[in-house]
Amino acid sequence: MRSVVLSGFMATGKSTVGRLVADALGLPFLDTDARIAEETGRTVGELFAAEGEARFRDREARTILPLLADGVARVIAFGGGSMTIPRVRHAALEAATVITLTAAPETIAARAVSIAERPNLGAASPLERARDLLALRREVYGECHGSIATDALSPEEIAARVVALAERDAVAIPLGSRSYAVELGDARPGHLTAALEALAPSSLVTVTDENVVTMRASWLDAALAPLDLRETRVVLRPGEAFKSIASVSRVWDAALEAGIDRQAVVVAFGGGVVGDLAGFAASTLLRGVRCVQAPTTLLAMVDSSVGGKTGFDHAAGKNLLGAFFQPSRVVVDLEHLKTLPPRERRAGLAEVVKIALVRDAPLFATLEQNAEAIAKGDRAVLRDVVRAAIVAKMRVVREDEHEEGVRALLNLGHTVGHALESHGGYARWLHGEAIAIGTVLEIAAAERLGLSPAGASRQAAALFERFGLPTSVDAAAIEAAWPYVMSDKKRTRTAVKLPVVTARGEGRVERVELDALFAAVCPER
Ligand code: GLY
Repeated sequence: MRSVVLSGFMATGKSTVGRLVADALGLPFLDTDARIAEETGRTVGELFAAEGEARFRDREARTILPLLADGVARVIAFGGGSMTIPRVRHAALEAATVITLTAAPETIAARAVSIAERPNLGAASPLERARDLLALRREVYGECHGSIATDALSPEEIAARVVALAERDAVAIPLGSRSYAVELGDARPGHLTAALEALAPSSLVTVTDENVVTMRASWLDAALAPLDLRETRVVLRPGEAFKSIASVSRVWDAALEAGIDRQAVVVAFGGGVVGDLAGFAASTLLRGVRCVQAPTTLLAMVDSSVGGKTGFDHAAGKNLLGAFFQPSRVVVDLEHLKTLPPRERRAGLAEVVKIALVRDAPLFATLEQNAEAIAKGDRAVLRDVVRAAIVAKMRVVREDEHEEGVRALLNLGHTVGHALESHGGYARWLHGEAIAIGTVLEIAAAERLGLSPAGASRQAAALFERFGLPTSVDAAAIEAAWPYVMSDKKRTRTAVKLPVVTARGEGRVERVELDALFAAVCPER
């Protein structure tokens, strides 16, 4: 079991609840303020007053970081400001399940009156201070795996909720007040039920496609039935060819016809196409209603459901219209892979290889070591791979939500891959297959341009081939598809931002002239 961190403002009950949670889980309990007092022989209030906030936070980080890195599972109550230290916050979110305990400023002020040692609340007006600090820390406290409003609950009730959250396997996507958890399960429709319950929707708009509904409707029905909510179901034609404004319109029409209000939630139940369309529809309906992504393909689980890219295709090219719109929750259930056609499963692996190539050498090694089990669809191995890919993507999105820098790395293979897909009318290749070809061609081109080490494309191609993915296409097809590169949204006037592999598991984005890229992709023309 992972450690549990209780975060949140002072006087939200972190220590009292922490002890109860530790007893329930059979883990040791530790309060970081108490640990610092033990280490220094001085109270936190004294240290805060003597050395000022910046030095105190540094001291706090030096106490907390080893506790998150030593591999011992424990329940840790953080100080109220510990999560304001980015390196502590990121380490906690990766190493532990972080639960934020929240309370209204009035509750905090009333509780804190009786508490002597509160360096940050001051004596003059605890209510004003609580309001100010809560507003300042809203984004920081939003970064967690789950949060619990404590005002009306007993410590025992709060502890029971923390224990339930701690028993889940989730990756937190930390984006301030737009943060959310990606929950992993296997044959657990109840996870979607609970995720939706927590959002307290007024009604649901479920977006799915004909293939998904044939294979997975019983899972979806099992998840939604206990909610007893009005549900409008939109079943789209499947495939990239239907990733169009017409499909978005169908969602808009159905939702507005049903008279949804702004408390409605859109549930995207399908692969990447359904997720992108439903997310975009949610971002625009009534100027934005919440969206829960429940991906059913491997590609959607490891890539498209996480990170908030939504949109649809245009005749001029793929994904040319859309918006960044983060979901409120992502619920991944590995059981969907059982009924996923093997070709779709293999295509999903292309995005895993992609992120491993540019960001995660250990994941690349895992893929190489377990290629046969992964290709066969071994769910235990796939679960680890899916989790690792989501964590790798989280690290990129956390750093660059709107693709102003490092996120462009995730477009490896997409400049050429999208052009091939668009040119082929989305009929010849699945998205992941086109990405596998595009990745190999782009890395080979980068090698010719002196931007990637020799042999990088061969290594990528070898892994794709073990997964049964295509890695090449004839030069005439590339030449025919090239006009779509010219219209790709990632180009500047005459150049593209090309992700290049620089070492095992590492990438960099380079500006490459389109003419030079074409010559390097198609050296024989
Ligand atoms: N699929 C690439 C990204 O989310 O940035």
